[in-house]
Amino acid sequence: MKCRKCLKKAIIYMPEHRLALCSACYSPWFLDYTERTIRKFKMFSRRDRVLVAVSGGKDSLSLWHALNALGYEADGFYIDLGIVGSNNYSEQSKQRCFELAERIGRRLHVVSVAEEVGAPIPEIKDLTAREACSACGLIKRYFMNRYALEAEYNVIATGHNLDDEVAVLFSNVLNWNRGYLARQYPVLDEREGLKKKVKPFVYFTEKQTTVYALVNRIAYVRDECPYALGATTLSYKDLLAQLEHQAPGTKRRFLDGFYQIRALFAEAEATALVPCSRCGQPTTTEVCAYCRLVEHVERRRSAAVPVRKVAASEAAGVRPIEHEELSLHHPGS
Ligand code: AMP
Ligand code: FES
Ligand code: ZN
Repeated sequence: MKCRKCLKKAIIYMPEHRLALCSACYSPWFLDYTERTIRKFKMFSRRDRVLVAVSGGKDSLSLWHALNALGYEADGFYIDLGIVGSNNYSEQSKQRCFELAERIGRRLHVVSVAEEVGAPIPEIKDLTAREACSACGLIKRYFMNRYALEAEYNVIATGHNLDDEVAVLFSNVLNWNRGYLARQYPVLDEREGLKKKVKPFVYFTEKQTTVYALVNRIAYVRDECPYALGATTLSYKDLLAQLEHQAPGTKRRFLDGFYQIRALFAEAEATALVPCSRCGQPTTTEVCAYCRLVEHVERRRSAAVPVRKVAASEAAGVRPIEHEELSLHHPGS
């Protein structure tokens, strides 16, 4: 197959765009498409200070690289989750982020969960007897917002791609999570202490961000987080990939169609936010879910209570973290 622009050998065919491109023509197309998405949703301008949340994976590192190539003022933010696994997952991820920071000459801010919360994600998982991903999602959202506020960035950008967004939408529709549906959008404006959040790669497939990373020789962590294996979202992704294969463009149509009717769910979003009485971050409860999680971890650690006895100490006054607040499918993540 030949590149549509220069007729050299194509390296990628994108059936949903009916477009084949070679390695030289791919990055300019990708950058142009990124720019158009940023403008379409009025995400940010070159006057804004953007904080790119980087995980060390292909999506977020490609995003950081692309924003800098487009001339945006974008620094990186890495949250060290303290996950070791079989491949030193967090340490490897951090290294990949530092490598790109050095290459593009940008600052990388790093925050460690173990230092801030008092325990890394695997220990938090054991101490709270919850899915690692749910506690992890809550902590990530909290740190992104708090850090952007403290370091005076106007916008937080994440690397969520089309496959991620469609799988989350599918799950939210299956479960009719109206509140999450109301907030599932590529741009969430700043409100009541919550910084503006954007997803500039919302229209790129995983394959497209991978090819951008490869063409630009961006080293990234290929392994999934050890806790993500077997997650429901992955099975939705497989299902949606089959539908896309049968009818290219299905995912994009599903997502864009939803964006057009999203306003129907707006009412569900209208919960007032108040500052947390402990940390001052916006929350719907008196003490935010993050502060309750930290308190929970501190108590369990000092009491060294085995996980199965958790219910008794919860009865003694630690308010359990509600599932909603920790959900993996929160679109604001
Ligand atoms: P995930 O929820 O792992 O699919 O990640 C979605 C997005 O969240 C990524 O594209 C990043 O922008 C951001 N993100 C995930 N993990 C981290 C992390 N450890 N540090 C900073 N940002 C992250
Ligand atoms: Fe958070 Fe896997 S548990 S990235
Ligand atoms: Zn708080």
